[in-house]
Amino acid sequence: MKKKAAAQGGSKGGGGFGSAVEEMTPAQAKAELKFLAAEIAQHDKLYYTDTPRISDAEYDALRQRNEAIEKRFPELKRKDSPSDRVGAAPAERFGKVTHSVPMLSLGNAFDDEDVKEFVERIRRFLSLKDDDAIEFNAEPKIDGLSITLRYENGKFVRGATRGDGSEGEDVTANLRTIEDIPQYLKGKFPEVIDVRGEVYMTHDAFAALNKSREAEGESLFANPRNAAAGSLRQLDSRITAKRRLHCFAYAWGEASSPPAKTQNEFIGKLRSWGFNVNREIEVCKGVEALVAYHKKIGEKRQKLGYDIDGVVYKVNRIDWQERLGFVSRAPRWAIAHKYAAEQAQTLLKEIQISVGRTGVMTPFAVLEPVFVGGVTVGMATLHNEDDIRRKDIRAGDTVIVQRAGDVIPQVVGPVLNKPRGKAEFVMPKRCPDCGSLAVRESGEAAWRCTGGLICPTQAVQRLVHFCSRDAFDIEGMGEKRVAEFWNEGLVRSPVDIFKLGRHKAKLAEREGWGEISVDNLLRAIEARRTLAFARFIYALGIPQVGQTTASWIARHYQTLDQWRAAMRTAVKERAKHPDERKKPDVIGEAYADLCNIQGIGMTMADDIVGFFAEAHNNQILDELDKELILQAPEAPSRSSPISGKTVVFTGSLVQMTRDEAKARAEAMGAKVASSVSKKTDLVIVGADAGSKAKKAGELGVKTIDEDEWIKLSAG
Ligand code: IVH
Repeated sequence: MKKKAAAQGGSKGGGGFGSAVEEMTPAQAKAELKFLAAEIAQHDKLYYTDTPRISDAEYDALRQRNEAIEKRFPELKRKDSPSDRVGAAPAERFGKVTHSVPMLSLGNAFDDEDVKEFVERIRRFLSLKDDDAIEFNAEPKIDGLSITLRYENGKFVRGATRGDGSEGEDVTANLRTIEDIPQYLKGKFPEVIDVRGEVYMTHDAFAALNKSREAEGESLFANPRNAAAGSLRQLDSRITAKRRLHCFAYAWGEASSPPAKTQNEFIGKLRSWGFNVNREIEVCKGVEALVAYHKKIGEKRQKLGYDIDGVVYKVNRIDWQERLGFVSRAPRWAIAHKYAAEQAQTLLKEIQISVGRTGVMTPFAVLEPVFVGGVTVGMATLHNEDDIRRKDIRAGDTVIVQRAGDVIPQVVGPVLNKPRGKAEFVMPKRCPDCGSLAVRESGEAAWRCTGGLICPTQAVQRLVHFCSRDAFDIEGMGEKRVAEFWNEGLVRSPVDIFKLGRHKAKLAEREGWGEISVDNLLRAIEARRTLAFARFIYALGIPQVGQTTASWIARHYQTLDQWRAAMRTAVKERAKHPDERKKPDVIGEAYADLCNIQGIGMTMADDIVGFFAEAHNNQILDELDKELILQAPEAPSRSSPISGKTVVFTGSLVQMTRDEAKARAEAMGAKVASSVSKKTDLVIVGADAGSKAKKAGELGVKTIDEDEWIKLSAG
């Protein structure tokens, strides 16, 4: 019911709108239809090209209200009526694809009554008898992005987004990186078929992505759907490939011959062709079975591991689907039965700021703890200053809290008819931890603390990163321990870690610490005095420089001395051309050389150069250089049999770790990819290998076993 109530609230801000449709005058109706057309078009655009500003429920409410007014005043229906359009017009950057069969949308049912009406409508339309139970294929409604995949003679030739329903964007290269999407169909299939489905991101992949974005000082995605959309719309498909996207196939568009007689049979076909199909799909007969299915999936929703926003019921018989056809933007033979996003109201006690490693200041809400979506929520992210302003969230407000995507708690907005907090939120102009000035660079959503090394929070986070698994990998130096050492003055700078041995007595006195723990820690530290140069670079925590870039830098410069010498020159070059934004060559040779490294563009190059421009960073490098032995990466050998080739490891290796094998392959000049595609040259198959080995077989990619790999990599 909540969503129906929102239908009235949905058009607030439109200047006196929101009166009951039955009581409207034609003039009012005309004005509101105009407003709704513009409003819905704007939200469509935001939905596809940016972060949506309203919830799906609010959006649905706007469309419903538009439809209700049009129904009462059919003569006032606009040429640009939202009910004739689906989704946003495609963005300009990808090639356009016209869908030979349009990609339409679904009508919504918000309660059991709506489902009953839907089934009755079908019964009437097909003039079935009252006791004829209609069979439906019931499917989860995946909250992702719909896509269409064209197969010609079983070969994947083109993939596109939905766009405005008639024309989408050509994202073939990006879709090819998704393992769930077969490059070739198996078995028997129509000569030409457009398979339709949903690209989505799992909760786990979403959490990991946001975690690493946070670590790199990048802005966070609000929910898995946005993350999936952002990942699929990358111009560089290497980025998409890293994003762990998935796809469920569930429908077809154009087909040269009818692929099935029922929707359920078609799902079986999709599976046999090699697609990933949802395992919760079931055939249900009659309204009661549908409602029971909705309830059952609703109870499982938290545990599915990906977001759904409802279930979809589709008339199972394809001949009936054809007879039923479409009304404006949606089929008569299918409906989405939505779930209410789990929301609760609570008091927002205060707005605090958390500071990350790179100084990004993220506001968050401290809440009166409230139970929502299966967990007690005491804190919720507020993303950034603009988001808070737009929603006008204030300390002291009663707010609506929602578990968006059932993962991160979010503040939807204040409850306007409850007493409001007095003061509008103002982003502090100083860092709450160190008092340094905060700055917001133009074009960025985030404020950053400029305190750098003197900011304790940044310092602790940087040290934690320095010791983390992919950096120095020092066991026993997690966040809690590092913060304690920092407070006690034992570790203030990375080099102090390597001098901890001098404080052995003091360490042993710490509560709960005996000599053994001290020895263990010191041993873990000693073991890392010799370290791969690439790990060292990653450990420095230069904004944007992740593991992959770090290893390219290491390969390029080979030693710390050579890297520093080049960067000294690059700093001077950049200082002479501070305003150049496009051409690295104009700036200078050392700078351009840095930009030539794989994965490094000018914004990242500027962060790297910026790091070397700071005296304190150079001091840290001097100090560390005295304590450490850095191992140069093996120079890529031109004569290696896998030089320039793309290799994939799958299954478990017995004689060396996956990391080591990867490093060796890279040292031999190969590119190590995580999934098998037509572009793969070689797959190294370890024990218990699964789908990747199979795929290699299907694509005719050469495979070798571990023994052969050992021989190859040794020789
Ligand atoms: S069938 C003509 N099945 O929901 C009907 N859609 O609101 C075609 N969606 O654009 C859609 N899961 O992006 C269908 N199992 C499912 C779905 C599904 C998610 C999405 C899809 C579609 C939107 C309609």
